[in-house]
Amino acid sequence: MARIIAGIGSSHVPAIGAAIDNGKTEEPYWKRVFSGFEKSQEWMRETKPDVAIVVYNDHASAFSVDIIPTFALGCAAEFPPADEGWGPRPVPVVQGHPALASHIAQSVILDEFDLTICNKMEVDHGMTVPMNLLFGQIDKNSHWPCPVIPLAVNVVMYPPPTGHRCFMLGRAIRKAVESFPDDLRVVIFGTGGLSHQISGPRAGLINSKWDKAFLDNLSKDPQKLVKIPHVDYMREAGAEGIEMVMWLIMRGALDDKVDEVYRFYTVPASNTAVGHIILANRPRGAKGSKAPRKPKPAARHKRAAARAKVERIRS
Ligand code: DHB
Ligand code: FE
Repeated sequence: MARIIAGIGSSHVPAIGAAIDNGKTEEPYWKRVFSGFEKSQEWMRETKPDVAIVVYNDHASAFSVDIIPTFALGCAAEFPPADEGWGPRPVPVVQGHPALASHIAQSVILDEFDLTICNKMEVDHGMTVPMNLLFGQIDKNSHWPCPVIPLAVNVVMYPPPTGHRCFMLGRAIRKAVESFPDDLRVVIFGTGGLSHQISGPRAGLINSKWDKAFLDNLSKDPQKLVKIPHVDYMREAGAEGIEMVMWLIMRGALDDKVDEVYRFYTVPASNTAVGHIILANRPRGAKGSKAPRKPKPAARHKRAAARAKVERIRS
């Protein structure tokens, strides 16, 4: 059985990608950002997931404003980097996992989430920047360390999906993964955010108090976040802060109780608050996890004694 072992939240600021691609990661401004991901890269190297599902948003790179799917799942064998205006980023082509992706599409659609199935798709910074932050800089002629299933979410044109819908889609993805027969250890990324607004009179808006409360609740009390309406994200986190609903798909795919492995927050990168979190599911059967636990020996003995008594009475 496949299993989601951890969720990763990460901002996807395009300037981070430009800093990597142009060799600026050691400059003090950027070092502050990248040093916050060193432990995460170490965790990723140790964790060695078999597959990553990356929930991200396309920025009119693969989809123009002509066609805007709310949820689009990448079922292709590979996903080339998109040309975002300066040519494609020099990163490897992303290898997909068509068997697991098709299985997720079937399970989730039959569970009444109407996904768009993408058998051909390019991917932009929304996906490749968080992958660089977690997997490190990788030569474009080399390959990413594991296959990736992209899940693109519309957060660029009103109306995006609600936080509740996103969380429930995460639940459906978890069910889909757990009904896949191969033993795969899967991680799921929620990307975008945190607070930022790129244009208009409030351009440059950052709300650290809101961001930190979001990270706290994501870790400990996600049901509080599920109820937040779009207008609150817009008011408190800026127009592009709405990207944060994508983190709720990641959180919905995890168990109710998780262990916070790592967190990082810094302001700013470009005009954006950078947030990052790693949440791990507890091993099945551990305290606080939902898996059925074996009865305690004392309870087992009591039950066996009761059964023996019934048998004695019957005979
Ligand atoms: C910027 C763009 C993004 O898509 C984002 O999520 C954050 C920042 C930018 O243009 O700076
Ligand atoms: Fe974005």
